[in-house]
Amino acid sequence: MDEFRLVQVADIHLGAGKEHHLDNWLKVAEWIARERPALVVVNGDLIMGDPDDDADYAFARAQITRLPVPCRYLPGNHDIGDNVLSGKMEKRVNDARRARFVSHFGEERWAFEAAGWGFVGINAQLLGSNGQVAEADQWAWLEKALGSFSGRRIALFLHKPLFLDHPSEPDSDDANLRQSCIDAVSRSRLLVLCKQHGVRLISSGHKHQTRTFSLDGIYYIWAPSTACVNSPPTTLHWGAREVGFVDYRFRPDGFDHRIVGADFLFRHESYMRKYGVAGE
Ligand SMILES: [Fe+2]
Ligand SMILES: [Fe+2]
Repeated sequence: MDEFRLVQVADIHLGAGKEHHLDNWLKVAEWIARERPALVVVNGDLIMGDPDDDADYAFARAQITRLPVPCRYLPGNHDIGDNVLSGKMEKRVNDARRARFVSHFGEERWAFEAAGWGFVGINAQLLGSNGQVAEADQWAWLEKALGSFSGRRIALFLHKPLFLDHPSEPDSDDANLRQSCIDAVSRSRLLVLCKQHGVRLISSGHKHQTRTFSLDGIYYIWAPSTACVNSPPTTLHWGAREVGFVDYRFRPDGFDHRIVGADFLFRHESYMRKYGVAGE
């Protein structure tokens, strides 16, 4: 059977001298070396926190290149800065930060075909860039990439989810919620293209929560982080507070997925560190 096994890891958050998530990454790397999927998609937030920390970049790259299988890379807010219009972090995406990511990982978007599917990965941080040339370039590239897979099922990968509750929701006034997903204008434009070209699956990271649902013919999968969960349990969550990654199997007639790792990774709780609670 023509089957393509793809593992998505997201929000691995690796940093030099900040090895409190490294135990999980080493277990993930060991699992990947044993299972040997055809491809690993690293869907953003490779870097621990500061997108301008060169030591973290070198550390993350050294850790990821341990994987004995091909990898494709997409940037997240902690790699190249947050979205200009909807982000929250002080550092926002720009050409220099994008160039740094590409110099370490070789790409910021990609498209390829396998098992009768078209696979497209985009730079989510460029959406809502307030007029950066690179965003216009990416929209033109995306339209062409999706068009080249016309008639096939398409899986789209990007770091941030498109929305929290529904595609029609407005941009939130709350900075935390607004930075959780793609801004409303970019989302609408993206969904028009997705519907036009037959996108069946949208796979994202960023929320450090697991959530799966289907809406209007598209499966949405929020992948957990391999590193940690973020907000306290009392905060409103849309998905499950767990760590892990996604094991996909694509075939010409569909796909399966399972969340792996919640049972053997340690659920680091990053909010405790922010409160200065010792003993994580
Ligand atoms: Fe993250
Ligand atoms: Fe993120």
